[in-house]
Amino acid sequence: MSGQREDKVLPYLDDNLDIESRVLDLLSHLTLKEKFELLSSPGKRRIYGTKAIKRLGIPSFKMTDGPLGLSYQSTGLKKATRFPATISLAASWNRGLAKEMGIVIGKEIRSLNRHMVLAPGINIDRTPLNGRTFEYFSEDPFLTKELAVHYVKGVQSEGIGTCLKHYAANNQETNRRSCSSEVDERTLHELYLRAFRAVVKEADPWAVMACYNKVNGVYGCENEYLIRKVLMEKWGFKGFVMSDWFATRPIETAEGCINGGLSLEMPWPNKYKFKLLDKAYVEGKFSDEVLNDLVGRYLRAMFLTSAFSQHTDGSKGARNTPEHQNLARRIAEEGTVLLKNERSMLPIDLDSIDRISVLGPNLKKKFGRFLYGGSSAVVPPYEITPLQGIRKRCKDKVQIVKDPAQADIAIVFVGLDHGRGKDSESSDRTTLELPEEQIELINKTAKLNPNTIIVLIAGSPIAMNRWMDNVPAILLPWYAGMEGGNAIANILFGDTSPSGKLPITFPKQLSDSPAHSSNNTRTFPGDEEKKVHYEEGIFVGYRWFEKQDIEPLFPFGFGLSFAEFKIDNVHLSKESLVGKDDVLTIELDVTNISNRPGLEIVQIYSTDSDCSVPRPEKELVSFEKVHLNPSDAQNIQLEVKAEDLAFYDVSQHDWTIEPGTFEIRIGKSSQDIVAKSSIHFN
Ligand code: BGC
Repeated sequence: MSGQREDKVLPYLDDNLDIESRVLDLLSHLTLKEKFELLSSPGKRRIYGTKAIKRLGIPSFKMTDGPLGLSYQSTGLKKATRFPATISLAASWNRGLAKEMGIVIGKEIRSLNRHMVLAPGINIDRTPLNGRTFEYFSEDPFLTKELAVHYVKGVQSEGIGTCLKHYAANNQETNRRSCSSEVDERTLHELYLRAFRAVVKEADPWAVMACYNKVNGVYGCENEYLIRKVLMEKWGFKGFVMSDWFATRPIETAEGCINGGLSLEMPWPNKYKFKLLDKAYVEGKFSDEVLNDLVGRYLRAMFLTSAFSQHTDGSKGARNTPEHQNLARRIAEEGTVLLKNERSMLPIDLDSIDRISVLGPNLKKKFGRFLYGGSSAVVPPYEITPLQGIRKRCKDKVQIVKDPAQADIAIVFVGLDHGRGKDSESSDRTTLELPEEQIELINKTAKLNPNTIIVLIAGSPIAMNRWMDNVPAILLPWYAGMEGGNAIANILFGDTSPSGKLPITFPKQLSDSPAHSSNNTRTFPGDEEKKVHYEEGIFVGYRWFEKQDIEPLFPFGFGLSFAEFKIDNVHLSKESLVGKDDVLTIELDVTNISNRPGLEIVQIYSTDSDCSVPRPEKELVSFEKVHLNPSDAQNIQLEVKAEDLAFYDVSQHDWTIEPGTFEIRIGKSSQDIVAKSSIHFN
């Protein structure tokens, strides 16, 4: 029992009562004015919390930004564990790590007595130029949802809420507060809403953040179709919807947001100012039923997060522990993608060289700084730079020299840096290329030393045509978090094998990418009316490259290892699937045929061979990551759910599977397919 104010305990304060009854009881005690007050923050001084109502013992509901950890600007400048960028977590293809990361974020939030993290961001990567690509998972909705479900479950298992963002079709930063994503119904559901739907159904997130942009002409915060019809009615979402920061500004009326389904306007009242709400209410622009529903949803989250009990249940959480930092390192290692490794340049054997040269603009750079990259910037208590990681590892073993010509091996750290137009919220990148001086540095170094290794620190795809052939090895650790330097050194010197695979296609050139293929601003960043026409439809990412038969620089799902694996003895549990709830089990053997330990990610893709509507050549439907010691073999089972073979049928406004044959491809990437089979759906 908590928060007892008078002699008599009111039902809503009774921890033993079910949440729905507590919500109903509390609603009955609230005045109209108090309900209005609960719909926003108390004002400019507390922009990450809501208004407390002392009379009823309702505390402020406090949030922190995510998704890379607890952001500095939202926690009263508190330092916290800085995890690798979300795209790195996605590149790990490791559900367990996503869950662990969620749990740690939950614990760190508990330690600050907050209640919710504004994460994960699950928008689909439509263009490689999107400034927030580093904060999102993937171009593929299945991979996105598999990891996001686990992240959400992890956080919420700590009694801390999550807030899925940015709902929906928020796929670029250019004109993000005014553009309209013009997207057809099938594409919207099949690509841009699919991960939201799955996370809502599988993990029950306690909140969703509505986007800045319009979707088909209607702003996210007043989009009755997206919020009420789809999220709440169709998917059965029980949580509440809040606005992105200032996203309600261009909206005309308070009732637009209320009727749209927006429970919380942040960071302070604009449309939800008392006067505006009261006027709309008196004029009958919205009903008590709608208002109670919005407030009730928000109160439900408060009860779920035990905001009323202020975490008095024993666990205070913890922040910045060695375990948390260790996890940040493990994710960085598992998310690192080895893109090229000719002449087995990597790993570097410190016993066989004398001098190493390290250089480049990202060698000593720390990325965990105030608002670096935008709202998700976490400032950690320390951050290991690549130089520090390498120095520690090379101490007393090899000499670190300046001149690449004097070294056995040169390592150049290039990439982006969260600056404006370089992987940052509020602006998109303007080119796929590295900055000119970095291209020059790579080519110059490669001339001086043929053993030049490139380490790319960036959160989005990079073009490599102008330098790739000149270097034997390329490693992509993304933004690797506070332990990044250690993780990078561990991989470079072979303590661990890289096991990440690309969650996003790397195009050879920008015009190969769907949003940029037309060379017309209609598809990016939008026409004169700021409408962005998603003309490529469902064919985004690898779905596009395969349909158009464009060879990517590196395909979706690609990544090398120091080890080598064989996949064989594939066996399907059945020949046909009956009904959408049926599940196919694929059993196979993975063998490590090298003398190094490593991890392989087995990927399953399906093709609907006879469908009445166009379908992608391949769609990811299952994957599993396996750790194997040298010569070890493991028999694994992967599940393919019939529902993941479905497409969104506009005639039914729902997902459907047409009877017919589906090809099943098993591979190490979307293009490295090692076995094929087929299954019927009846
Ligand atoms: C971002 C959100 C973030 C919010 C609060 C906005 O600018 O788009 O992702 O959660 O700010 O900091």
